[in-house]
Amino acid sequence: MIRIFAFLLLFISSVSAQIRPGQLWPDTDGQHINAHGGGVLFHKGQYYWYGEIKGKNSLAEVGVSVYSSRDLKTWKNEGIALKVSEDPNSDITKGCVMERPKVIYNAKTKKFVMWFHLELKGQGYAAARTGLAVSDSPVGPFVFQKSLRPNAGKWPLNFEEEWKNPRAGEDTLKWWTPNWYTAVKEGLFIRKHIEGGQMARDMTLYVDQKGKAFHVYSSEENLTLHIAELNDTYTDFTGRYITVAPAGHNEAPALFYQDGWYYMITSGCTGWDPNAARSFRAKDMLGPWEELGNPCVGEGAELTFKSQGTFILPVQGKKNAFIFMADRWNPKNHIDGRYIWLPIQMEGGKPKIYWKDEWDLEVFDKKR
Ligand code: GAL
Repeated sequence: MIRIFAFLLLFISSVSAQIRPGQLWPDTDGQHINAHGGGVLFHKGQYYWYGEIKGKNSLAEVGVSVYSSRDLKTWKNEGIALKVSEDPNSDITKGCVMERPKVIYNAKTKKFVMWFHLELKGQGYAAARTGLAVSDSPVGPFVFQKSLRPNAGKWPLNFEEEWKNPRAGEDTLKWWTPNWYTAVKEGLFIRKHIEGGQMARDMTLYVDQKGKAFHVYSSEENLTLHIAELNDTYTDFTGRYITVAPAGHNEAPALFYQDGWYYMITSGCTGWDPNAARSFRAKDMLGPWEELGNPCVGEGAELTFKSQGTFILPVQGKKNAFIFMADRWNPKNHIDGRYIWLPIQMEGGKPKIYWKDEWDLEVFDKKR
């Protein structure tokens, strides 16, 4: 009898240790996790998952959530990390758009630093700003500091001198025509936004091997990614940044490092609808970046298994173990959006992602 009981316990715990992409994912209170467009921080033995608290629609009515876990499967709701403001004059007033929050820890200041994509209330997606909030604890409360468009007055490091001067008629070029594409690749939007700062929408944060932090954002009307260096406290931009894949329409950037290379996985740009992911690699965060193609393999690969990436999670205590975290958005009822977590494996120097109905962290122990 005892043996049967022990076996049952073992069976239940091993079944519950599975990650099931696309299924409801209950937290320890039994509620589907509400942390969309999220990212994970590991700090002192615990993982913290931050994400957008969604309701039926996608406006920020509550703020950014935080969940904690030791095993990446069982998540405890730690409440609201960053609350929207009740003050109608605040940049983060209730009803704004707050997306893709990411948190990194600054060992020098001992602060948890959150950046997120911010759209001002009532302006749709026109503001294209990034917001900063800081906390003394990983579970918050994060205190909102400021919002801005990055790198005002600064040209990218990989920008040609002759691109700095506006060209006759460039403002009236018809979108999506060959001449317009050329103009975009040669800095059309950078010139336009040089004074007020560059547009910043989908984003992530990444701390490189040397401890330098970078803010990676879709800029220039989502046409071009920027990788921008943050200062030592991670609370401002240094003005050093590069453009990646100009006019390539990359969103949803997510990064990891393995064996001397930084890898980045992005999506295309089709709103809440899924599209094919792309991948890149570079020896240095400030480039040059080389395109590697769609990392997804097999049935559903052309739509990233009906999802869009948000973060790449390094599994602690395992070598070269990375989880691709993505969102299967549900724009009809955002709170029901599902999480697609899949292991990344390297094949011929390229990251590859295969669909799995369910899996556990042991996949990383098998010879790959
Ligand atoms: C997606 C983006 C999401 C959200 C959405 C709004 O392309 O990745 O974070 O901004 O558009 O339509």
